[in-house]
Amino acid sequence: MSDAVYQKCINPDCASTYGVGESLFACPGCGDLLDAVYDWDKLFVPDGLAWFEKRWATRANKLDFSGVWRFRELIPFCSEEHCVTVGEGQTLLQQNDPVGEYAGLSAGRLHLEYEGLNPSGSFKDNGMAGAFTHARMVGAKHVLCASTGNTSASVALYAHACALKCSVFIGSGRIAYGKLSQALDFGAHTIQIIGDFDDCMRQVKRVCGDLNLYLMNSLNPFRLEGQKAIMFRVLEGLRWQVPDWVIVPGGNLGNSSAFGKAFAELKHLGLIERVPRLAVINATGANTLFDLYENKGVRFNGGQVDNAVVDGYYQKLNETGYRPHTLATAIEISRPVNLKKCLRALEVCNGVVREVTDEEIVDAKAVVGRFGLGCEPASGASVAGLKKLRQEGVVGPDETVVCILTGHQLKDPNITVNYHKDKQGPYSNVPVEVENDISAIIKALGL
Ligand code: F0G
Repeated sequence: MSDAVYQKCINPDCASTYGVGESLFACPGCGDLLDAVYDWDKLFVPDGLAWFEKRWATRANKLDFSGVWRFRELIPFCSEEHCVTVGEGQTLLQQNDPVGEYAGLSAGRLHLEYEGLNPSGSFKDNGMAGAFTHARMVGAKHVLCASTGNTSASVALYAHACALKCSVFIGSGRIAYGKLSQALDFGAHTIQIIGDFDDCMRQVKRVCGDLNLYLMNSLNPFRLEGQKAIMFRVLEGLRWQVPDWVIVPGGNLGNSSAFGKAFAELKHLGLIERVPRLAVINATGANTLFDLYENKGVRFNGGQVDNAVVDGYYQKLNETGYRPHTLATAIEISRPVNLKKCLRALEVCNGVVREVTDEEIVDAKAVVGRFGLGCEPASGASVAGLKKLRQEGVVGPDETVVCILTGHQLKDPNITVNYHKDKQGPYSNVPVEVENDISAIIKALGL
């Protein structure tokens, strides 16, 4: 690619730049996060978002079919011959009044962006389209990730498609079976580390650094480039109107970071007039972002994040042996690697952070299941977060809201079955057991 694309350290005191052909997952100078940065003046940029509609007519071209690469002018770090796609991003933005009513919104205001429709069943495929493209550009042979489940499923699928060797690190016992079954089925070399996600993340960073292997976690700037496309499709689903709010669950904070970057770039390019507000929702059992942002007042502050507060926070977690715990295992993370970029997104989008309990998560998930397309527990956090923000009056009843449903309902069937079978909440749909007898069956039918 041309010199119009490069990688840049997000720390303003460092701001070192590196070529796009380098495989780096932290700034070699100062260790901070790296961004993919574009010199837009040297690139072709459409004069309006509706320009992308022309791709609908040429969907026989697999890049125009991809829900990521049909926006490739907004993700221009690679040439077309490198682009990897398995048909990701055929997602739906579903307007949903019953779920909106549950959360306290007026009719016509809630939209659910259903990322469960991706090939591996979660939003991660958007990011992998970007990261595997970069892996192909730099000639990677062996890719690795740490995962609470969905990343490993997605990495395994794309590695298979690209014929790359793939190893995934997962915390023992903290992965939903739907996800583990995918990683195994797609042939990933699966290593269960006795520890949690944060332990896996620390180890995978070391292994990739020491052995020069390719890291597929969202520390990889090109993962986030792919995930920007979720927002492009949201705008497409709203016929290019910007919503008032985007609400997303927060774990390792890749999605929220990517969304903020997408909106900052669209605004810079004059393709949107305003950015939406962003709400990131933590589970109470894994609420580092909530604590740092809402309780301790940590802000991006133009890149001058108060590192002493953040470091002190993590030191305390270490000293007390703290382990995050939530039923929404996808977001059971206490040391989110994209913290700084997420703080930047919150600054760009005038954002808020909330925490929701496991009970609130599984109730909201059941409501989505009953009235929507169904989702996994972590996704329920976005609807539960909306309900909370409505109760607080932070979100108004007539505002247009997009909740991101990050993963498919079938990712974690145990949580769903237990919720219904054990009557855990007001939306439980308890199965009825009867004798194998026709009159008992008819009686159970209530006829
Ligand atoms: N929702 C689901 C279904 C996820 O799998 C994840 C993250 C998130 C939300 C949080 O997204 O990290 O961008 O804030 N899962 C990762 C994994 C960590 O390993 O599959 P984030």
